[in-house]
Amino acid sequence: MIKKAILPVAGLGTRFLPASKAIPKEMVTVVDRPAIEYVVKEAVAAGIEQIILVTHASKASIENYFDRNFELETTLENKKKFDLLKEITEILPKHISVISVRQPQPLGLGHAVLCAKNVIGNEAFAVLLPDVLVKNADAANDLAKMIHRFEQSQSAQIMVEAVPEHLVDQYGIVDVKNTPAEGESMVMQGIVEKPTVGTAPSNLSVVGRYVLPAKIMQLLESTPKGAGNEIQLTDAIAALQKLEPVEAYRMQGQTFDCGSKIGYLKAVLHYGIEHPKLGDEFKQLIQELKL
Ligand code: G1P
Repeated sequence: MIKKAILPVAGLGTRFLPASKAIPKEMVTVVDRPAIEYVVKEAVAAGIEQIILVTHASKASIENYFDRNFELETTLENKKKFDLLKEITEILPKHISVISVRQPQPLGLGHAVLCAKNVIGNEAFAVLLPDVLVKNADAANDLAKMIHRFEQSQSAQIMVEAVPEHLVDQYGIVDVKNTPAEGESMVMQGIVEKPTVGTAPSNLSVVGRYVLPAKIMQLLESTPKGAGNEIQLTDAIAALQKLEPVEAYRMQGQTFDCGSKIGYLKAVLHYGIEHPKLGDEFKQLIQELKL
C-alpha cells in the first residue's frame, strides 16, 4: 500500500516573480486557499497518509499552514467564530501527517526526491510536483488510479498528457509504442527530459505525478547531472526502465500549471466558478465583463 508522498517545494519560483520574492509560490492563493493545499488534498484523496515536503529555509509558511496555530485558534474561539475555527483546524483529516526535510542545495528535482530517502525507507511512494494542479471530476482521481495500477502490476507509473509538439522541450517526454487510452497505462520504451523540438519520441509529456518503487533512490544516487545541469528524476526513471517495466499512465483530469502566470489565472477561473460559496457570484462577475 502506498502511503507516502514526496512534494518537492524547495524551488525558488522564478517563473512567479515578483510575488515569489517574499512568499513561496506554493502559498499563492487559488481562490481562497494556497495552491499547495489542492495538491496535498489530491494526495490524500488517493489514500496518501504521510506528506513529505522537501523544502527550503525561505518556505516555513508552507509548514506553518499545515500546523496548528494556537494563538489564532484561541482568538477565534474567544470570539465564538466557530465556523472559521473549524475551517482552519480541519484543513487535513487527523490521520494525515506532514513532515519536512530540507534540500540544502538546488541540484534538481532528482536530488530533491533523494533528500527524502531516509523517510521513504523501503516503501514505494508517490511524487507530486506542486506547480501543477490536477482537477478530476471523480472522487477516484488519477493519482488513485495510478496507485491502484502500481499495486496490481508493481510497475512504476508516470502520469502523462499530450502537449502540442512545439512545447515538448519544456517537459519530460515518454516513448511508447502505442498511446494509452485516457485512464490506462502502457509500458514505456524510454523517457527523456526536455528534448529539443523535432527530436521528441512522442508528444506525451510528464505531468508531475509519479508512483515509484523505493529502488529509484539507489538509482538517483548514481544519476549524473543531466538537462539544465541538474540531477533529473527523469534520468533515474530512464535507468529504472532499463531494469524493469515502467508504465506511462495517461491522465483523465485537467491540468493547471500554476508555476506560470497564465496557468495560474486559468486555475483561479476554473476553481472559482466551482467554489461552493463563491461560484455563482463569480460566474456572474465573469459574465458582466462581456469581453
Ligand atoms: C519537471 C520535470 C519534467 C516534467 C515537469 C512537469 O520539470 O523534470 O519532466 O515534465 O516537471 O511540470 P520542471 O518544470 O521542474 O523544469
